[in-house]
Amino acid sequence: MEIAQIDKRLLIYYTLIIEKVNNQMANFILNINGEQKEVDVDPNTPLLWVLREDLDLVGTKYGCGMSQCGACTVHLNGAAIRSCVLPVSAVVNQPITTIEGLSSDGDHPVQKAWLEEDVSQCGYCQPGQIMSAAGLLNNNPNPTDQDIDLAMSGNICRCCTYPRIKKAIKTASKL
Ligand code: FES
Ligand code: FES
Repeated sequence: MEIAQIDKRLLIYYTLIIEKVNNQMANFILNINGEQKEVDVDPNTPLLWVLREDLDLVGTKYGCGMSQCGACTVHLNGAAIRSCVLPVSAVVNQPITTIEGLSSDGDHPVQKAWLEEDVSQCGYCQPGQIMSAAGLLNNNPNPTDQDIDLAMSGNICRCCTYPRIKKAIKTASKL
């Protein structure tokens, strides 16, 4: 086969791939932290990666990518959810809050309690912990120890800040 024929076949092959990739993209309007954001992404892209890669909201962290660690927790309609396993196409027109939008200047009761109880150590898991705690208090302003254990059981902290997290949630419930 001549070089020119190989080049032509490669060109057709790459054109088909590019068309396939382009066909998978779609336009979505998302309601993030009270603002409308437009993104052009594959509908199956996890919300986590749209937040981090397309909207530069990097406060939401990647840990496991399998709904096992809680690092990627954000609020959907006020409830804590794992953004690493939720396709962007499933959250259109629903209010999403990330750690960046929890309060305008860090004065959400959970954020204030976190500082008061000096919760954070390395900090990596903390945005997810805070969003889970805030989600709990949205639905249950006076949680029992058991409620806290249940709500926070999916958020892992390799620095073992669990006792301070629990104390801070109780503090936040009184603020
Ligand atoms: S990154 Fe989503 S739960 Fe671990
Ligand atoms: S504070 Fe380090 S992982 Fe939780």
